[in-house]
Amino acid sequence: MKAELAMFGGKPAVRPEYRRLEWPVVTDAEREAVLRVLDHRKFTVGAKNEPEIHGLESEWAEFCGTRHAVAVNSGTVALELALTALGIQPGDEVIVPALSYVATAMAPLYQLAIPVFVDIDPVTFNIDVTKIEEKITNRTRAIVPVHLGGLPADMDEIRALARKYDLLVVEDAVQAQGGTYRGERIGSLGNVACWSLNVEKSIPTCGEGGLVTTDDEEVAERIRSLRILGEDLSTEERLYVSATRGSNLKLSSVLAAFTRAQLASFWDYQAKRDHNIPVFLDRLAQLPGIVIPTVPADRTHMWHMLRFRFDPEAAGLPGVTAGRFRQALRRALLAEGVPLTHYQIIPLPGQPVFQKQDAYGQGYPWSLPGTNPQRYDLADYPVTCQVIEDSLCLRRMHLNPDAGPALDEYADAFERVWQHLDVVGRFARSLDYQPPWTAVPGYEPTAAGVA
Ligand SMILES: Cc1ncc(COP(=O)(O)O)c(C=O)c1O
Repeated sequence: MKAELAMFGGKPAVRPEYRRLEWPVVTDAEREAVLRVLDHRKFTVGAKNEPEIHGLESEWAEFCGTRHAVAVNSGTVALELALTALGIQPGDEVIVPALSYVATAMAPLYQLAIPVFVDIDPVTFNIDVTKIEEKITNRTRAIVPVHLGGLPADMDEIRALARKYDLLVVEDAVQAQGGTYRGERIGSLGNVACWSLNVEKSIPTCGEGGLVTTDDEEVAERIRSLRILGEDLSTEERLYVSATRGSNLKLSSVLAAFTRAQLASFWDYQAKRDHNIPVFLDRLAQLPGIVIPTVPADRTHMWHMLRFRFDPEAAGLPGVTAGRFRQALRRALLAEGVPLTHYQIIPLPGQPVFQKQDAYGQGYPWSLPGTNPQRYDLADYPVTCQVIEDSLCLRRMHLNPDAGPALDEYADAFERVWQHLDVVGRFARSLDYQPPWTAVPGYEPTAAGVA
């Protein structure tokens, strides 16, 4: 007999303690690391012989195979300072994917540069490299590929375009710590790479943090200066002389020490994920109408986020739209105890901050003299719209290296829901449905790409 769906009163497939799993995992190693800082009392990067930030920087550079790593206080700041240190100027255009965390597209604004969006690939969810060239103009200076969800972007094609048009490449490597592409470690594949250490990331700290990696000594030195009010760092003794504009964007030693402990455990944890997650995905792949994450043979997936696309036709529900199917599945699976979420409900160009084209008043930076007009119309990003409509994500929980038994119960929940697809289909048809981005304040119906 089929067990009843939890949304109609059945017993949920997932036990309550598996609905939220601990991440970051905090062990004695992290406790000792934090206490060590309280004992040695070197709390900031400026303290003489400070060991934690400098230790993290050299360990991170080794982890990425780069000459330098510079620690800052967030991934967003890492992107902002990377673009600044590379010489991005007001009015320059920076190419970014239409699907990412907003920081990727917000960072160019720090230098009064203008984000230009490119649609994503429907399989990898990364920037569609076949659509980049048509967005390159006389003002384009950089491409920021994002290794979204843990899967490296198509870096060879991106680097070829960068060579052809003399562009800089800044990897947003935030979601793919440890990943490799064609045998090379990400974080070393462009001019500069940016990392976040926030609590959601695969190598987190106990708060917020970030890093920039590069082989370029001058760029690294500029970032070290930018993170401390543009100070001239060439003197042995600190003279408090600012050579350039900067801000106070330093990481704290306690946070660095915590991350060093996480970095030391990373490959053990990742080996467990490399077992747990494919077992889970293989079970889901048996269910018609679920598209599990794809891993091209030339790169590794770091499993940072698991995105599932849902196809109602393949599930045997013709006439049910993808958005309604996804919405009905979310209700059913959440009731069973599977903590599925959206990751982004709106393509980046649809974010109100970009729709307004006014970041600093008077339309800056879009109104700067000589800039090209930008059209941020969602109809130009049909794949991003479609993926947002028809997919849901599993985040954070599955990073716990002991998530295996919980993932088994998540798979039980999917299987149960799939036994009731006729009911789910009826429920989906009855839903009052709008695409997720219509919930955004300031949404204009004319900007919709997909109904
Ligand atoms: C792809 C991407 N880029 C940049 C960032 C910004 O990092 P932070 O939150 O540390 O500022 C994030 C953060 O989650 C991200 O996912």
